Amino acid sequence: MNDQEMYEAALAATAVAYPPHSGLHVGAVLECEDGTLIRGGNVEFGSYGLTICAERAALATAVNLGHRRFVRIGVARSDGLPISPCGMCRQSRADFGPLDVVYRAPTGVVRRVIWDLLPDAFMFDGES
Ligand code: THU
Repeated sequence: MNDQEMYEAALAATAVAYPPHSGLHVGAVLECEDGTLIRGGNVEFGSYGLTICAERAALATAVNLGHRRFVRIGVARSDGLPISPCGMCRQSRADFGPLDVVYRAPTGVVRRVIWDLLPDAFMFDGES
C-alpha cells in the first residue's frame, strides 16, 4: 500500500468516528509490523476534554490486540481537507516509534518521520 492508498484508507476509517460535539469526523489507519491494518475514529464525550483522537483510538485498539511494533499511521478528515496530527497524538506515537505519519498537508499527501513531527520527544525511562 503506497502513501496515497494509506491516506485513502484513513479517509474510509472516518466512517467509524463518533464526533457528536465538533462534527469533525477523523479517521486513522495504523499499519502494524506484521502488515495488519487497524482503524480508529475519534470519539467525543459530553465532557469535551475526554475526547479520544482517531490516532490514539487506533493505537489503543492495536495494543489491546497484542501489537507492539508499527510502521506507519495515516490520518484523514472526512471532508478531505488538510489535517495535521495533534500534539498529544504525536507524543503517543513517539512511545511506539519509530513510525511514519501520513496525512494531507496543504501541499498534498505527505509522509513524515515521527521524530520530525516531535523533535526531542519526551521518553519515559522508568526513572522517577
Ligand atoms: N482530532 C483527531 O481525531 N485527531 C487529530 O490529530 C486532531 C483532532 C479530533 C479530536 C476532536 O474529536 C476533533 O478532531 C475536533 O478537534
